Amino acid sequence: MDIAIIGCGFVADYYLATLQLHPELKVLGVMDRNTERAEHFASFHGLEVYPSIDALLADQRIQIVVNLTNPDSHYEVSKVCLESGKHVYSEKPLAMSFDDANELVEIAEKKDLQIVGAPCSLLGESAQTLWKAIRDKEIGDVYTVYAEMDDGLVHRMPYRKWFSASGIPWPAHDEFEVGCTLEHAGYVLSWLPAFFGPAVSVTAFSSEQIKDKETDFPLVKHGPDLSVACIKFKSGVVARLSCSIIAPHDHSLRVFGQKGILFVDDTWHYRSKVYMRSLFNIRRRMIINPFKKKIKLLGKQRAKIKFGGSQSMDFSLGIVELASSIQEKRLSRLSPQFSLHVTELALAIHNAGVDGSCYRVQSSFDPIDPMEWAI
Ligand SMILES: NC(=O)c1ccc[n+]([C@@H]2O[C@H](COP(=O)([O-])OP(=O)(O)OC[C@H]3O[C@@H](n4cnc5c(N)ncnc54)[C@H](O)[C@@H]3O)[C@@H](O)[C@H]2O)c1
Repeated sequence: MDIAIIGCGFVADYYLATLQLHPELKVLGVMDRNTERAEHFASFHGLEVYPSIDALLADQRIQIVVNLTNPDSHYEVSKVCLESGKHVYSEKPLAMSFDDANELVEIAEKKDLQIVGAPCSLLGESAQTLWKAIRDKEIGDVYTVYAEMDDGLVHRMPYRKWFSASGIPWPAHDEFEVGCTLEHAGYVLSWLPAFFGPAVSVTAFSSEQIKDKETDFPLVKHGPDLSVACIKFKSGVVARLSCSIIAPHDHSLRVFGQKGILFVDDTWHYRSKVYMRSLFNIRRRMIINPFKKKIKLLGKQRAKIKFGGSQSMDFSLGIVELASSIQEKRLSRLSPQFSLHVTELALAIHNAGVDGSCYRVQSSFDPIDPMEWAI
């Protein structure tokens, strides 16, 4: 399927690297409002440059536009793409407000198109293996999930030395201005509703704890660098998610049930091992088995591209799934309504503020299917 990319920044190099694993997707060209950057990126990867977004959208061969612009541009770029009849795969979040994200999904529905959002780690081996273990009731009924999304004191790390393969600097301003919840929480927020169904409420707190981050540029706005949320799902499960760029790196997820604990050490890593510890009673005590049982990862061993920082995410998996769904005339597993739901949860946590909020979730979605190799 023919695709095009808008936004030739840091993450675009990751997409290009992982697109090598998926020859069924062909990048016809790229575009960036920073023309110099687009030309540099295109020559590095041997691609064509579209001189404008209009020129890109006029190319009838393109079915999917991959929106890799900064979060503040997601809405306007996705909207014009949908209005021009293109399916959209957007980096997270779909938009910076629920109303804008909802409008994009409505436009897509009216035009019989799909807009779906990253991240796509739900389609990876770890998430699918964990999900099957939950469905198979390996730990009985699930009561609660604890999820961490901490990345350490990023503002004190040598981020000025972080460059993508083609030499694009890591966009520190987005990390600090957009904030870590909108930037990172999606990696877990996309797993939980898939496993436990739609969420009904989000009780959350968010705060900027480090106001004097030493940056080389003035911060135009200040995103929260800490958030904590309890998400209640219609099924009765409750998840607690903490997100920060303060506490040391921890992307772990633990699922607590009747008969034991399922856990993954790193939800960013598509092939992170899935483990289980069972509970049992000895005389008057309940014991958590000190020996963890490894649950065999589902799915075949895929080739992977190694790059620093972002673990071994296959950024293109979500585009492959969207392309397959278009060809098979079905909704993507990361359907527009599902992607809207994930965006709404992230925005609810991000916007909770220091006084906290109890937010009623408006969106919902039809149950989504596991990958065929994980049924
Ligand atoms: N940096 C990472 O490690 C990382 C990882 C995963 C996901 N993401 C997500 O990917 C997206 C892009 O992040 P990035 O790190 O590549 O940022 P970046 O700033 O390096 O690149 C974004 C590019 O989009 C371009 N752009 C912005 N608005 C545009 C518009 N209206 N039209 C055309 N071009 C426009 C900018 O000129 C820039 O070149 C964000 O949503 C981010 O959350 C980033």
